[in-house]
Amino acid sequence: MRCCCPGPRIPAVKRLTASHSPRALTIRPSTATTPRTTVRPSDRQRSDRRVRRAQTGGVPYGCLCRPIASCPRRRGAVMTGRAVPPRVVAAQCAASEAGFTKSCTPEVGRLLRLAAAAKPHGIIAESGTGSGVGTAWLHSGLGSRARLTTAEHDVVLARRAAGLFADDDRVHVLAGDWRLLEQHAPFDVFFCDGGGKRDDPERVVDLLAPGGLLILDDFTPSPHWPPRFDGEVDELRTFYLTHPSLDATEILTTPVSSAVVGARRL
Ligand SMILES: C[S@@+](CC[C@H](N)C(=O)[O-])C[C@H]1O[C@@H](n2cnc3c(N)ncnc32)[C@H](O)[C@@H]1O
Repeated sequence: MRCCCPGPRIPAVKRLTASHSPRALTIRPSTATTPRTTVRPSDRQRSDRRVRRAQTGGVPYGCLCRPIASCPRRRGAVMTGRAVPPRVVAAQCAASEAGFTKSCTPEVGRLLRLAAAAKPHGIIAESGTGSGVGTAWLHSGLGSRARLTTAEHDVVLARRAAGLFADDDRVHVLAGDWRLLEQHAPFDVFFCDGGGKRDDPERVVDLLAPGGLLILDDFTPSPHWPPRFDGEVDELRTFYLTHPSLDATEILTTPVSSAVVGARRL
């Protein structure tokens, strides 16, 4: 597996040694007094899984590129700043590995988690799965009786993202156009991040349940009303902010980016 962060890669065999995980003690490097253990494939697989769990906080997936203390991404996730859910970290690693750069930011991710948590029995949807980072944030707020469906038209991305959620039957990753989501509507939360946002905004609003929350990110804050972008009125943002079926507002997610959040009127 390729490393998600700069620095030398650790050869696969080294990952299995005690020095990289105190819990992976069944396989040891050879010394004068300790003969090398013969590793049958099944032992190796079992040990590899133990290393994964130890390094990802108990979840059986995640990047194995380096021990956690020397991986900036995962160390940041668990030791500094605000905690990032392990599945989000795994999705970020998958994005790095695939060279996918359009994942949502942690600020947007926390908004997604909040929205999912506000609808504990909800039907949650996302258009444009990407590498699964937004999906993982939504998942981190998902109630035990909620359902999360996400659609991605890039089949390779969809397949990889599906792997991150294979252990949770509340989550469905659809490979295909965002309109595949329609069969699961109406939505209590809709993170519209791929198709729909620009090409069929009226339909996006239609797919919301009464009281359903719509989240759209990647806007640039504007001091004007109506909001402007690149010297022009931003018609798309204005459409959502003034839609008669929505109570909508724009919030800063960082000093230089914003999101539109709306609730469908009853
Ligand atoms: C901004 S990225 C998604 C990032 C992801 N939601 C996240 O938060 O990490 C947009 C994604 O939408 C996908 N996409 C674009 N048009 C689409 C469509 N019509 N149907 C499904 N997916 C689409 C793109 O392939 C891309 O992966």
